[in-house]
Amino acid sequence: MDFLKVLNGRRSIRAFSDKEVESDVLDEILQEALESPSSSNTQPYKLAIATGDVCQKIGSELLSKYNASNKIQKQPLPLKVLSAITSDALPDSDFKPILGKYPPLFQERRIATGAGLYKVLGIERSDKKARDEQMARNFTFFDAPVAIFVFIHPGMTHTALLDAGIFMQSLMLSATNKGLGTCAQGALGIWRSPIDKHFKIPKDYKLVCGLALGYPTEDKVNDYKPNKINLTDLKIPKI
Ligand SMILES: Cc1cc2nc3c(=O)[nH]c(=O)nc-3n(C[C@H](O)[C@H](O)[C@H](O)COP(=O)(O)O)c2cc1C
Repeated sequence: MDFLKVLNGRRSIRAFSDKEVESDVLDEILQEALESPSSSNTQPYKLAIATGDVCQKIGSELLSKYNASNKIQKQPLPLKVLSAITSDALPDSDFKPILGKYPPLFQERRIATGAGLYKVLGIERSDKKARDEQMARNFTFFDAPVAIFVFIHPGMTHTALLDAGIFMQSLMLSATNKGLGTCAQGALGIWRSPIDKHFKIPKDYKLVCGLALGYPTEDKVNDYKPNKINLTDLKIPKI
């Protein structure tokens, strides 16, 4: 594939087929992503790669945490606090998840992107149940056979976050080039304990993001192409 085809061909995939990703293909993608630049070549990231049974188990544990926390949200206030304290559904993320409102400009973009996605899915904005069900699909990785959890060393502060982001984009482009699909998933950073149950995460490493990987289905959700900002919005004007 040529570069533009790969770049434009990558889209967040939210419906995966059950076709397995061969382990040599997965390793090729990871090897290619390792060509990414990083601050002083520190490469301060590590991946927990869940496939097969482990992928299924982590998915169902995350889903039950999501369902439990959703139930708690719907309770009246005093009960909500009590349930939150006594349940194991409280977020145990390494970074504070952005669950509330974004700054106005980004909230606007977020809503527009979400609205476009729900339109493609035929979900009405007022249909909270259907929106919750769609959100829940995040936690079983949209049925992807591979879930990748990205950890960084916080000793590298902000450069580790940048490096991990660049690495993830390389991984996503490499996967696209091989006919696979990906979805970066911040939602997979909300609960860390299900991943700790299955992987020996080195001390000090922090979970920053997840990523679903697999073969895309023909589902219309995978054709969704949200708008990107234009050059005027991108460039900071001169004084
Ligand atoms: C750091 C990061 C976190 C994301 N988290 C989620 C997520 O939790 N769930 C989801 O469906 N999409 C998630 N996305 C995908 C974005 O919604 C998507 O990249 C954006 O809407 C632009 O669409 P595109 O990837 O198809 O170009 C995330 C993307 C990034 C880069």
